[in-house]
This record gives sequence, C-alpha cells and structure tokens, in this order.
Amino acid sequence: MNTHIVLSAINISADYILDSKRGLYLNAIDNVSIDFRSDEVIGIAGESGSGKSTLVKILYGAAFPPLIIRKGKVYLFTKDNSKIDITSITREELRKNIWWKHISYIPQNAMNVLNPVKKVKDQFIEVFKYHDERIDAKETITKIKELFMRLGLPIEALNAYPHQLSGGMRQRVVIALSLLFNPRIVIADEPTTAVDVVTQLGILNLLKDWQRNSKTTLIMVSHDMSVHAYMDDRIVVMYAGNVVEVGSKNDIFENPMHPYTKLLIASLIKKGEKKLKTGIAGEPPNLLNPPPGCRFHPRCPFAMDICRREAPPIVELSDGKVVRCWLYARK
Ligand SMILES: Nc1ncnc2c1ncn2[C@@H]1O[C@H](COP(=O)(O)OP(=O)(O)OP(=O)(O)O)[C@@H](O)[C@H]1O
Ligand code: SF4
Ligand SMILES: [Mg+2]
Repeated sequence: MNTHIVLSAINISADYILDSKRGLYLNAIDNVSIDFRSDEVIGIAGESGSGKSTLVKILYGAAFPPLIIRKGKVYLFTKDNSKIDITSITREELRKNIWWKHISYIPQNAMNVLNPVKKVKDQFIEVFKYHDERIDAKETITKIKELFMRLGLPIEALNAYPHQLSGGMRQRVVIALSLLFNPRIVIADEPTTAVDVVTQLGILNLLKDWQRNSKTTLIMVSHDMSVHAYMDDRIVVMYAGNVVEVGSKNDIFENPMHPYTKLLIASLIKKGEKKLKTGIAGEPPNLLNPPPGCRFHPRCPFAMDICRREAPPIVELSDGKVVRCWLYARK
C-alpha cells in the first residue's frame, strides 16, 4: 500500500493547570510520539482518563488553557507538501486554513462544536464563509442532503436549533459538517456514545466507507475495544498519558506485547465464552503525582526494579510495532 505521513506528533508532553499558584499540574500526556498515515483507520484505545481526548485535542491544534503543551510539536503535511506546525499557529489561522479543510474533529461532546443560539443551517453557512473561494453552493447543498440521508437525519434538522435535536442528532450534524469539505484527516472522539445501537452501526459504517473511498486518515478514539476490532487498521494503546503500544489490529488483538495491552486483551470476553472476566486489578495512577519509572508498574505482574526507578524507553520492533516497556529494551 502506497501511504505517506499526514500528521506527526513528536515528543508531546502536556499538562492541565489545576492551580498554578499552588503548583498543581496534572500531567495528562507524557512524551508521546506517533505518525499518522494516509489511507488508514488508526484507533486510539485505553481506559477512561488515559488521555485519549487530550491527545486528539492537541493533534487538532485545540490545546487551549487549562491545557498547556510543555514540550513537543505536531506537524501537519498538506496536499501541496507544506509542513505546518499546528502547535504554534493562531486559532484564527487554524480556523481559516486548517480546520474542516485539512483536518476535522468530531469531539466527544458534539454540543461543544454547535453554537446553541444558531440554527444548524447557519452553522454550516458559517463554516462555508471560511472556504468561500472554492465552494459551489448547489453542489454543497446536494452533498449536505446526501450526508444527512446517509446519517439518518431529516433535512428539516437544518432549520432547527441544536437544543431542538436529540444528542444523537447533534452528533450526526457534527459528523456531516466534519466530512463536508473532504478533509484529509478526520478525528472521531467516541462518535457513537450518545446514540442507540442501530445508529451506532450506521455512523461507524459511514465513517468507514468514507475513509475507504477517499483513502484519507480516520483517527478513531474509543474506550470500546469492539469498536476498534470493527474499524481499525492500526491501534495506539494509551495508559495514564503514555502511548504504551502501537501495532496493527491483528498484532494488538492476537499478539499483544506490552503487559497492559496483554491484560486489556485478556479481559475481553471472546465470542462464545460464558466466563465473566474480572478486568485489570488495581486503579490507574493519579496524574497529579504519577508514580516514578513506568506508570504501569504498580499494576504490572512483570515489574522489575528498573521499572520503579526509570521511565521505559520507546522501543521500535519489526513491522512498525512500537512498545514502551523495559521488557523489550536492550539492556
Ligand atoms: N479540563 C480538564 N481539567 C483538568 N483535568 C482534565 C481536564 N480534562 C481532562 N482532564 C484529566 O486529564 C486526564 C486525561 O483525560 P482525557 O479526557 O484525555 O481521558 P480519556 O482517555 O479521553 O477518557 P474518557 O475515556 O473518559 O473520555 C484525566 O486524568 C482527566 O481527569
Ligand atoms: S516497564 Fe516494567 S512495569 Fe512497565 S509494563 Fe514493562 S515490565 Fe511492566
Ligand atoms: Mg475522552
């Protein structure tokens, strides 16, 4: 498959400022590097609070206070091969030149995107204004109608205010908006949590078809491993603000390397199995004061002395597999 890098996060560390006077910072992202490629569905997995939403906000260029980037860069590679550092350009530039056109974001709570005092149709018009030089109104209206139909949205929803729509409908309006300008990258953060099971499958299929037809990049955030099993080509596994493993879907499900991924996969109930699984023993750490060394060491059955003292290195294995664990480091 002929793919290239479209987005690259390099050594990102980021904190939420809880109380700067008292020096209270929550370290939500710790030294994360990932390359995102064209023509792939790449999943971001991990339990609640592992930093999935925080990471994708940074990838989108939306790291606004109280979230601050301490270290690192995110580069976006555009169609004309320019390299843009989206961590250092203004919100106005992002809005004008990057968002919707190059990269779209369906946030975990769609209400954050829709303006509550504007009708849905006016929100679409607002986005058009930034892209007016390239828009064919007739074509765009046809496309909106088509997207609404595929998403099971009545066309009348265009005349509604967001509060007149259900949570699931608002979510689908944001999905329609995010696909409208054929961006190269779409980030979907738990896009199916607010909708019923039938709509869920409809949304996943729409995103998958869109990605396959346009050969673009879909970054699929979910705590639900069955969504990753259905959607992804590659999976990034997060734990307590770290990327602990990256691999193909097959590698992650069939041959997990990191102890956390192994336990995560072992805790899933397989088809036909009746046994109740117990999940992973222990709790994720408090990120206000993360444990020294490997953040997983208090829960890891393989923890060694070095794990309690030093953060593990990021180890690149064959076939693009990446694992952050002392077990795989050359000592
Ligand atoms: N606005 C905020 N202010 C302070 N801390 C925050 C804020 N948003 C998130 N956090 C903290 O940052 C860490 C990562 O949160 P994040 O929302 O990125 O996790 P997540 O993996 O997306 O979780 P979920 O699966 O529940 O959506 C958590 O410890 C969370 O409590
Ligand atoms: S670095 Fe050590 S504690 Fe961390 S996952 Fe690997 S073996 Fe376990
Ligand atoms: Mg989240």
